[in-house]
Amino acid sequence: MPPLRLGIAGLGTVGASLIKGLNSQAEMLADRCGRELLVTAINARDRGRDRGFDLSPYSWIDDPISLATSDDIDVYVELMGGEDDPAYSSVKAALAAGKHVVTANKALLAKHGVELAEIAESNGVLLNYEAAVAGGIPIIKVMRESLTANCVSRVFGILNGTCNYILTRMEAEGMSFEECLADAQRLGYAEADPTFDIEGNDTAHKLAILTSLAFGTKIAPDAIYLEGITAITTEDIAAAKELGYRIKLLGVATRTDSGVESRVHPAMVPLGSAIAEIGGVTNAVTIEADMVGSLMMSGPGAGGEATASAVAGDICDIAKSRPGYQHGPALGQPAATLLPHTQAA
Ligand code: HSE
Repeated sequence: MPPLRLGIAGLGTVGASLIKGLNSQAEMLADRCGRELLVTAINARDRGRDRGFDLSPYSWIDDPISLATSDDIDVYVELMGGEDDPAYSSVKAALAAGKHVVTANKALLAKHGVELAEIAESNGVLLNYEAAVAGGIPIIKVMRESLTANCVSRVFGILNGTCNYILTRMEAEGMSFEECLADAQRLGYAEADPTFDIEGNDTAHKLAILTSLAFGTKIAPDAIYLEGITAITTEDIAAAKELGYRIKLLGVATRTDSGVESRVHPAMVPLGSAIAEIGGVTNAVTIEADMVGSLMMSGPGAGGEATASAVAGDICDIAKSRPGYQHGPALGQPAATLLPHTQAA
């Protein structure tokens, strides 16, 4: 098999970890995928920044659209972030040009996912986005493939590592909100604009994607009730503990008689419950469904290496795929049991 040629746009925490991981595991990956994974071209905002590895083996293509449609790539890996351009136009151009796409960009998918999934399907290419939800936890593959036989009644969890890290350290060390957020930024957990983390938008983007996969609804982040953690104080956390609870930012989507209700807000969870024990940058997703019952997956929800692990898994999936192969339900494609989205009270 010829090598699978990768074009990577975005060399921040995740992009840099991905290239390092692909290099250090090259032989094992080639063996497991049955072909070499070869980074041919790259692009980032700042070419001169020291990323701890040599950029010279790769062609540098200034314009993301030229990179996305280059004859020298088979897969466009979009790790720039942002719901609109350049991510949107370049992903769209790549799919239209018959390139597979791997992205970690939940904001992009929450806004344009349905359209992009349709373009991918009509061009017979794959749009993979495991890293867009819950970092290193392989929840998308589970929902698209492993749980196909299930009718989901509820999906909920801790979907933002930055918020969970902040709440955990505020409780354990009595640190201020601002100090914890600064640490989360330094560790590469937070979004470029951390408002998206602490106001709950990032959780809403991820919940919108999960809701679409779980219930076959349109992706509608605007229909999600939204409340972040900026108003939570160390006093609130201490008071909750005295009552036997811990405060967590949760995303919850529930099938009801009238439709799917989705909401993001801080919630008091009983001390000793599985979700209360999820600390630091860890995420946890629980799915309740008719056949499997209740299952919870937990693991690192942010950070370069954990997120790059999910991106690399998506790339390997493409390397091993047969032409024309499609996964389970694509984003926003109504299942037979489609229920309308309803604005949560
Ligand atoms: N800022 C996000 C988080 C990164 O903290 O969860 C992973 O999506």
